[in-house]
Amino acid sequence: MAETEAHVQSIEVVVNGERRAAEVEPRMLLVHFLRGELGLTGTHIGCDTTSCGACTVLLDGVPIKSCTMFAVQASGRGVTTVEGLRRDGALHPIQQGFKEEHGLQCGFCTPGMMLVSAALLEENPNPSEEEIRWALSGNICRCTGYQNIVKAVHWAARTMQSEQASEGVESELAAEGAA
Ligand code: FES
Ligand code: FES
Repeated sequence: MAETEAHVQSIEVVVNGERRAAEVEPRMLLVHFLRGELGLTGTHIGCDTTSCGACTVLLDGVPIKSCTMFAVQASGRGVTTVEGLRRDGALHPIQQGFKEEHGLQCGFCTPGMMLVSAALLEENPNPSEEEIRWALSGNICRCTGYQNIVKAVHWAARTMQSEQASEGVESELAAEGAA
């Protein structure tokens, strides 16, 4: 009897700004696509049951748990993983914040924590401690006690605000110079 060919589906996902086309089985989870097919192993697998948040990525800018989504569902959409957080080759302020405030120990939860935090700051540039803790509440860390993660997000918020302020001053000066 002829062997049955596995049913595959064509997908096209923009991952960290790059268009990636692939043939995948419809049952393939997004996290397995990212790690196994694209080699983006910064997205971790901690539980496979939507509990820990280690597999968090941004789907069109919104945090989702990639162990709970099929790769085919991401077709035609944009995914950001921790590898895509860098800006112009430099660390994203949230990555710098985790470094400055010692927001990690083993690092297993860190990619998910960073992506949730980056999405929060995009929406709310000056979050309160309560808002940060609420945003992080779907992600579990078993090492840090969370305190330094909250400090890291505050550090990033302050840094991004001062960056924006100095960009504003620079463009005002440029406008005055052009006048
Ligand atoms: S691996 Fe997805 S939530 Fe834990
Ligand atoms: S730093 Fe180890 S789980 Fe968070």
